[in-house]
Amino acid sequence: MVNLTINGERIKVPKDYTIMKAAESIGIKIPGLCHVDKIHKFGSCRICVVEVEGARTLQASCLAKVNEGMVVSTNTDKVRKARRVLYELLLSDHDKDCLSCTRNTSCELQELGDTLGVVETRFDGEHSEYNLDSSVAITRNMSKCVLCRRCVTVCNDIQGTGVLNAQNRGFQTVIGTAMDLPIGTADCVFCGQCTVVCPVGALKETDGIRKVWEAFSDKKKRCVVQAAPAIRVAIGEEFGYEPGAQVTGKLAAALRKLGFDDVFDTNFGADLTILEEGTEFLTRVKTALTGGEATLPLITSCSPGWIKYIEHTYPEKLEHLSTCKSPHTMLGALVKSFYAKQIEADPKDMFVVSVMPCTAKKFEINRNEMKNEGNANVDAVLTTRELGQMIREAGIDFDSLEDREFDNPLGMSSGAADIFGVTGGVMEAALRTVYELVTGRELPFEGLHVTPIVGLEQIKTAEFKIESTLPDYKFLEGVVVKIAVTSGLSGAKILMDEIESGKSEYHFIEVMGCPGGCIMGGGQPRSDDPDVREKRLRGIYSEDESKVLRKSHENPSITKLYEEFLEHPNSHISHDLLHTTYTKRGKFNEYVDEQYMVDEVSSMEKFNDNEEEMQKNIEAGKVAAERAHERLESVRVLALEAEVNRLKQELSDSAETVDILKEVMGDNAKKPKQKE
Ligand code: SF4
Ligand code: SF4
Ligand code: SF4
Ligand code: FES
Repeated sequence: MVNLTINGERIKVPKDYTIMKAAESIGIKIPGLCHVDKIHKFGSCRICVVEVEGARTLQASCLAKVNEGMVVSTNTDKVRKARRVLYELLLSDHDKDCLSCTRNTSCELQELGDTLGVVETRFDGEHSEYNLDSSVAITRNMSKCVLCRRCVTVCNDIQGTGVLNAQNRGFQTVIGTAMDLPIGTADCVFCGQCTVVCPVGALKETDGIRKVWEAFSDKKKRCVVQAAPAIRVAIGEEFGYEPGAQVTGKLAAALRKLGFDDVFDTNFGADLTILEEGTEFLTRVKTALTGGEATLPLITSCSPGWIKYIEHTYPEKLEHLSTCKSPHTMLGALVKSFYAKQIEADPKDMFVVSVMPCTAKKFEINRNEMKNEGNANVDAVLTTRELGQMIREAGIDFDSLEDREFDNPLGMSSGAADIFGVTGGVMEAALRTVYELVTGRELPFEGLHVTPIVGLEQIKTAEFKIESTLPDYKFLEGVVVKIAVTSGLSGAKILMDEIESGKSEYHFIEVMGCPGGCIMGGGQPRSDDPDVREKRLRGIYSEDESKVLRKSHENPSITKLYEEFLEHPNSHISHDLLHTTYTKRGKFNEYVDEQYMVDEVSSMEKFNDNEEEMQKNIEAGKVAAERAHERLESVRVLALEAEVNRLKQELSDSAETVDILKEVMGDNAKKPKQKE
């Protein structure tokens, strides 16, 4: 422990504390912008400066560690002035159109200005101009970036993807991809973790809301929605509830009130995944144990960020992936086949929306592999944050909503499906079914929880011996099954390197792209609660424990679906609708043909401005020049196409605005004139 004085108060704190943390322990919150507990490491904003007796300069309190006898002042004139000047300098090169910014009212920069009491800015000089870079999943607007570098830390140190880095120096510094490639053509996996930590409107999910409102206005469309397991313990946060609050009934009610014709549950797709993936696992193990050739370990495939990561980073190892589509695309495929047939609708007239905790799902639905008979399985993805926005926009009072149920036939689910939302959940759900199928007995863990794989550690492993099997599964008698679970892509890298070097001892691996699993997905509400992960995790497990049905194979709606439509798990029709293939990409997308890349980039407004910079980089030979030239050409074409589309949209918006104005003016004209 260390003794020190803060603002005249003597305190004792652990010696690894920073000054900021020590101050916090006596109820003093030092303002800052770049600091995030356990993530930050750069100390780039300096807003958190304090005076330390004997030090020549002001100290960044989020970095400086406490010392024995230290005397700190957090609130002197000098400190306050320094913070204001730093803040004003930040604003001097910031695109300040708050009223039309997605972060308006949830912006840490705005909040900081309020905390510091800044009412005017004195500096106004040269402004950095950057192009809007919008892919199907992530949109970057560097004119709003405050260079805090949180995204750089998350992308490099937590996810290990290394897509974002600080480029150039001084006033020219910008956070971007190598070669300044548009994010949609880089090896970004669209996990969205950078959008969660970005304090301002510089990084965000690409808008899905507009498409959904448009579908509602199209009278020909039947709008069908589904919500992922992790939404039910997080959407409440958008309306002031604690993280982890279970608001499943209100969620279903809000979706119905928004105007969806059918409100289904992605949990149904999760139960179905267990039947399909469990069967695939047993088939592969049987083949391997009976002298055939089968690729093991089998790796789960429901996290699209993880899928894109393996396609870029381990393109030769795709055969380890389960062929199962993710639960929401499975459900989407069923809506446009099984359900369309039931209600005698044309699948082309159905508009399927998935509410997901994940930005990568916006990319996933655009994959060529996620179509059946030319129809996309899912037409739009909304993140949890976007759903919150839509509910507010529609004026729905979330708090006063009466609980509702999801609709049948695709709405019933087991507790096993709920736990898809946390790391370890897919594996546990699969084991609840597979173990019982093989032995005829329940999984031998208290409360059906496979304790070694419950929790938030990066990699969790377990093994168990299969004994007294049922006659059909004699090939598994005495086999010790080894499993591993990881969340976050740095953990996935460790397990994949073992596979690549032939040292992996596992039969089955679960990988989730975001640290903690979907509860901490890139589309979930931003939270400053340090215990948010634990709270959402507890919410998910208590949802599971509150259900009568806890195992996927006990879900009667799933049994009925197989009887009436799919026949049996891994049947021919199941393979057609519920299974998929993958795309070999490579670090620089070197295996992907350009046409496919075009599908993945939605707009490249004003991208032409950056050509000169790209040319310079090409000449410097930073990546294979030939390939870069090809990319540049395709980017130019894309930029032109995007510009044409944007102008068309602008024209149609203007025409619409004129119509609206005419209507408003007309209304006014009809109003009786007020007496003077
Ligand atoms: S990022 Fe914040 S300060 Fe900047 S325009 Fe958006 S809301 Fe305003
Ligand atoms: S979405 Fe993920 S991979 Fe892409 S830049 Fe952000 S953190 Fe990196
Ligand atoms: S993009 Fe956002 S998180 Fe990244 S440096 Fe800029 S402001 Fe910070
Ligand atoms: S919060 Fe300490 S340097 Fe930014």
